[in-house]
Amino acid sequence: ADMYGASRKNSAGVELGYDESLTALQAEIAAASAKPFPAATALIDGKPEGKSPRPVLSPIDGKPIGTVAEADEALAERAMLAAKAGFIAWSRTPARTRAAALRKAADLMEERRGLLLALLQAEAGKTLDDAISELRETVDFCRYYAAEAEAHFATPQVLPGPTGEENRLVLRGRGPFLCIAPWNFPLAIFTGQVAAALVAGNSVVAKPAPQTPLIATVAVRILHEAGVPVTALQLAPGGGDVGGRLVAHPAVAGVAFTGSTATARHINRTLAAKDGPIVPLIAETGGLNAMIVDATALPEQVSDDVVTSAFRSAGQRCSALRLLVVQEDVADKVLEMITGAAKELKLGDPRQIDVHVGPVIDAPAKQRLDAHVAAMRKLGRLEWAGTEPALGGTYVAPHIVRLDKIGDLAQEHFGPILHVVRWKAGELDKVIDQIDSTGYGLTLGVHSRIETTVARVAERLSAGNVYVNRNIIGAVVGVQPFGGHGLSGTGPKAGGPHYLARFATEQTVTVNT
Ligand code: NAD
Ligand code: ALA
Repeated sequence: ADMYGASRKNSAGVELGYDESLTALQAEIAAASAKPFPAATALIDGKPEGKSPRPVLSPIDGKPIGTVAEADEALAERAMLAAKAGFIAWSRTPARTRAAALRKAADLMEERRGLLLALLQAEAGKTLDDAISELRETVDFCRYYAAEAEAHFATPQVLPGPTGEENRLVLRGRGPFLCIAPWNFPLAIFTGQVAAALVAGNSVVAKPAPQTPLIATVAVRILHEAGVPVTALQLAPGGGDVGGRLVAHPAVAGVAFTGSTATARHINRTLAAKDGPIVPLIAETGGLNAMIVDATALPEQVSDDVVTSAFRSAGQRCSALRLLVVQEDVADKVLEMITGAAKELKLGDPRQIDVHVGPVIDAPAKQRLDAHVAAMRKLGRLEWAGTEPALGGTYVAPHIVRLDKIGDLAQEHFGPILHVVRWKAGELDKVIDQIDSTGYGLTLGVHSRIETTVARVAERLSAGNVYVNRNIIGAVVGVQPFGGHGLSGTGPKAGGPHYLARFATEQTVTVNT
């Protein structure tokens, strides 16, 4: 299979416009929701273990939807040692066999879509649309990394040399890899990290976010069922304490982390302070994602793309739009349209098909967002505020905040809050410099019909994903490899052709024949 091309297809997904597909899907989700969700546990060599179970609460209504038996420090230690032991056999398993396990896992996930979609909704508060996109992304990651491993890990690359000399480049797993995932893509990012590490020949200890252990446990069990040995993939659910313990373990050969910039720094410091080998960190972190709009942009298109990018998924995508930077000549018109479109968004229980914006993940997240909104209100900066539904869950309505300058947005607010700054004609370079000086570089939007403006913005800003005249969310595996620079991460592109190499060691073998 080629990297970008015709022979590799992404998952077909579900066309919600067809009543029949929707009814069938909803029946599968209802059947999965009618039974208790499988309990989340630590899995050490496939055996369920963990502390005494605690409830897992749904952000939709704050009610328990299952239980998790988390790892403690001793279990974290055992998980890492088990992965160290499991590495030997798995690293010697042919890459094609490892790839076949990922493909099988992707098939199983599609077969069990009822349970996975039900969990994405109940545990992470996703709308059906978002849940379907996430399942698609998950199976796409599995199949894409399987194809990549077959292309680059199955046979050594033969390199040129003088007569009488053979040169081969071999890619191999590094050892026990630690994969630490966030809650906002509890299936796609969790499985994507684990799948990449495994297919590259590493064993894995997976540490899901404490908010979303149920779906992680289901995903690990599916990978085991699909042919990943239980010794090669260990699961250690828990919070930052378990994560910290795992990072500090001497056996760790590499860390793949997706989450906040602050946590990535913390992990980086821990790794740097350790004795022994230098351990690589793959970090995919936050963003202060901006969209630059000039006076030539189409206001209807801008409005649609801004509302999608800022408020869809309740703004809980790392790619989400945080800062709209709009030229003042068109700002009033564009903002009026955005506000009008935002008013049409329906907030509420995301299991209802007509709801566009579900809850934020938990009470601490809501408190942080509410505090930011309150501070902006006090400063007289609220341009528009949506209305929160009274449903008992952790809902935050979309808000639009007016700022004087780009530098006034000091940090990522991980929810449906859009900040707006106006700029004057002739000040594009200043705008670019100010966005650059935030230090983040994840997604960037440009709405302009002037080619030189688009080229200047894309060239001068080092965002990992630049979107022109469209929304800035929903990168597709193998189509828009995803990941950022600077404060947004160490730059590997998930779902891109260079990702797996970051999980591998390379060995050059030169033979004098
Ligand atoms: P977080 O940093 O709080 O947590 C992420 C993970 O790290 C969790 O599993 C958590 O338990 C663990 N963790 C926390 N402290 C730790 C420690 N000291 N040692 C080891 N592990 C520790 O982030 P979050 O709130 O779960 O996720 C939201 C953040 O993730 C946002 O900043 C978002 O932008 C970012 N994100 C980035 C990407 C990307 O691809 N760049 C994708 C999704 C989310
Ligand atoms: N990959 C996800 C997106 O592009 C985060 O929205």
